[in-house]
Amino acid sequence: MSVGLDIGSKTIKVVELTKEGEGFALKGSGIVAYSGVSLEAVKEEKELVPVADLIRKLFNEAKISSRSVNISLPERFVFVKTVNFPSLSDHEIEAALKWQLDQYIPIPLEEAVVQNKILERSNNISEGVKVLLVAARSSYIEKYLALAEMAGLKVLAVENELISVSRVFGRVSEPVAIVNFGSLSVDVGIAKNGNLYFSRSIQGGGESLTRAIVQNLRIEAMQAEEYKKSYGLLEDKLDRKLLQAMEFPLRFVLDEIKKAIQYFESEERSQVKQIIICGGTAGMPGLLSYLVKEFSQEVILGDSFANISLSEELRKQISDYSHLYGVAVGLAERE
Ligand SMILES: Nc1ncnc2c1ncn2[C@@H]1O[C@H](COP(=O)(O)OP(=O)(O)OP(=O)(O)O)[C@@H](O)[C@H]1O
Ligand SMILES: [Mg+2]
Repeated sequence: MSVGLDIGSKTIKVVELTKEGEGFALKGSGIVAYSGVSLEAVKEEKELVPVADLIRKLFNEAKISSRSVNISLPERFVFVKTVNFPSLSDHEIEAALKWQLDQYIPIPLEEAVVQNKILERSNNISEGVKVLLVAARSSYIEKYLALAEMAGLKVLAVENELISVSRVFGRVSEPVAIVNFGSLSVDVGIAKNGNLYFSRSIQGGGESLTRAIVQNLRIEAMQAEEYKKSYGLLEDKLDRKLLQAMEFPLRFVLDEIKKAIQYFESEERSQVKQIIICGGTAGMPGLLSYLVKEFSQEVILGDSFANISLSEELRKQISDYSHLYGVAVGLAERE
């Protein structure tokens, strides 16, 4: 049994999987919306109590059986970089990293947790070894651990969100871009063979779209949120007013996604063939066809449960929300 818990800034998602042959079967899943908490701003542990209570409730309602979990760290809290080494052994790479780490990581090393993973080892001696470095401030990680502990959970592993979604949507051997359209941020990962190669967190998710509607249409936030979810970017609704209101923040995000893809393509000299979108905002009416027109690559809505075995009935029930569970499924799939 393995459990993935994705504590987002607007919703909390949980998924429990069991091993079934080579793959996984779904045991339970659940989602709860809340007013949100920015953990970076939390000063005292007691501020976490309501969130911990919510997580406890979510586990009970979703009938999650295990209390040992993998949790994710928001992409905006982590620093990700790939580094190329000459053809060294694993041991030599560890040693080289030890000496050179402060060149790569922008956080003081004594305040950071750093992990590395070998992504590729070329047979061609001149090409060498590609290593992924991930670093985060230990103070942020500790807050997530404190929250989980308060909710009665035992944390087995912590990883950044795009590592988790790469496991789900980035299995293929050609690079794909995975875009997690959340509430506070839009995160772009480029992945292949289940591994993350590039990460970028762009400020401005669903919340900034709602804000733009509030300002442009001069309506209440609740109404704006409802309009956004029901009509989104559809051309034939509300005289295109929503489309016009959201165009500016959306443009900014799309330009940043394009820049991220171009950067990867020029650095790695390989092309991104497909863009997979996930996260709550990915479900906005009209967004997919808007993106299809914007990008030269194929754009699809990610189905987090595509490779998970579950009954047809449950698959139908869950299908409207399956783009929301990428991080949680990826966490639960972690070895
Ligand atoms: N049908 C929909 N149309 C448009 N937006 C939607 C829809 N459903 C949900 N959203 C938006 O998705 C966002 C929540 O998505 P998600 O659950 O992925 O966020 P999160 O994980 O809590 O946020 P983050 O990852 O940024 O911390 C909210 O901004 C919400 O307004
Ligand atoms: Mg999220």
